[in-house]
Amino acid sequence: MTDRITIRRPDDWHVHLRDEEMMAAVVPFTARQFRRAIVMPNLKPPVTTPEQAVAYKARIMAALPADSDFEPLITCYLTDSADPDEIERGFKSGAFTAVKLYPANATTNSAHGVTDIANVMGVLERMQKIGMPFLIHGEVTDHDVDVFDREAVFIERTMTKLVRDLPDLRVVFEHITTKDAAEFVESAGPNVAATITPQHLHISRNAMLVGGIRPHLYCLPIVKREEHRLALRKAATSGSPKFFLGTDTAPHAIETKETSCGCAGIFNAPYAMESYAQVFDEEGALDRLEAFASLNGPAFYRLPVNEGTITLERAPTAVPDTIPAAGSALVPFHAGETLPWRLVD
Ligand code: NCD
Ligand code: ZN
Repeated sequence: MTDRITIRRPDDWHVHLRDEEMMAAVVPFTARQFRRAIVMPNLKPPVTTPEQAVAYKARIMAALPADSDFEPLITCYLTDSADPDEIERGFKSGAFTAVKLYPANATTNSAHGVTDIANVMGVLERMQKIGMPFLIHGEVTDHDVDVFDREAVFIERTMTKLVRDLPDLRVVFEHITTKDAAEFVESAGPNVAATITPQHLHISRNAMLVGGIRPHLYCLPIVKREEHRLALRKAATSGSPKFFLGTDTAPHAIETKETSCGCAGIFNAPYAMESYAQVFDEEGALDRLEAFASLNGPAFYRLPVNEGTITLERAPTAVPDTIPAAGSALVPFHAGETLPWRLVD
C-alpha cells in the first residue's frame, strides 16, 4: 500500500478568493496548497477591465503570507457589452488569463452575466483567434428547467452549438457535475477540457438532503445523483488530459449559509489536496493524481508546469467544525471529519 506520495506542485484552476476582509482570511489556505490559481471574477462589481484585474491581483498579492510564491491568474467577467479589443488587450498584457462566462443569474454575483451567447459571439471569435481560454459555468437559467437538469440542458441548448460554431475555441467546462458533461468533454476535440471539484467526487445529493438539509453541502452546480458522482470519479482518475483540478472553493460566512435562503458555495480550500488524494486512493489511482493536479491544467493553459513538489502522507487529518474569518466563521468542506491523507508542510 502506498503511504506517501510526492508530486509536482499543483495548481487550482477554479477559485473564488473574494475581496477585502474575507479575501485576507481565505487566500492563505489556497496559497498553502497551490502554486497558482485561476481566480474567478464574480466580485461586486465584477472584474471586467484589465485595470480592475491588475488592481485585484495586487490586492490578492498583498494578502499573501510573506514567504509565499503563490501566483493568482485573473479572469475577465464576460458581459453582453464586452469589447473584443479590450479583452484582447487584457490577454496580451497578461492582466487576464481567461474569460469567464456566467449565464445571467446562474449563481452568486452573476446578475451582470451574459443573457444570450449570441450577444458575445464577436468576443468569442476574437478569443478563438488569439487562443484565449473560455471558462464556462455550464447551466441554463430558464425557469422551466429543473435545477438538477440545468447542466445537461446547457449541453443540448448551448455547448454543442458553441463547440461546433467555434471549433478551435479553447473551452473549459467548469466544475462539471454530470455523466453527460464528462461524456461531452471526453468526446469533444482536444481544445475542450473540464475542471472537477472535490465535492462532486465525494458526495451525491443524498448527502445534502437525506436526514436533514445540510446547507454547507449546497453549491452550484448542485450535487447530483450517485451515478453522476461515479462517472466523475471515473473521468478524474482516468488519466485523460482533458480533466483537471479546480476546487471551486467559494467561501460564504456561516450566517449566510445557515439561513432561510442560504448562499451557494462550498469552502474546500483548506484540505483540498487531502480531499482529492482520498478519492484517487479509493479509486486505486494515486499514480494519476499528479496528472490531474499538476500537469493537465498547465498543458491546457499553455503554461509551464511548476517547479518543486508537495508530499501527501497517509495520516489522519482532523478537519475543524469552523474556521474564523472576517469577523465571522467559515464551515470547511469535510467539517468534523477525519480525512485519511495529510499534506506535509
Ligand atoms: C460560487 C460563489 O459563491 O461565488 N458558488 C458556488 O456554489 N460554486 C459561484 C459559482 O462558481 O457558481
Ligand atoms: Zn465557481
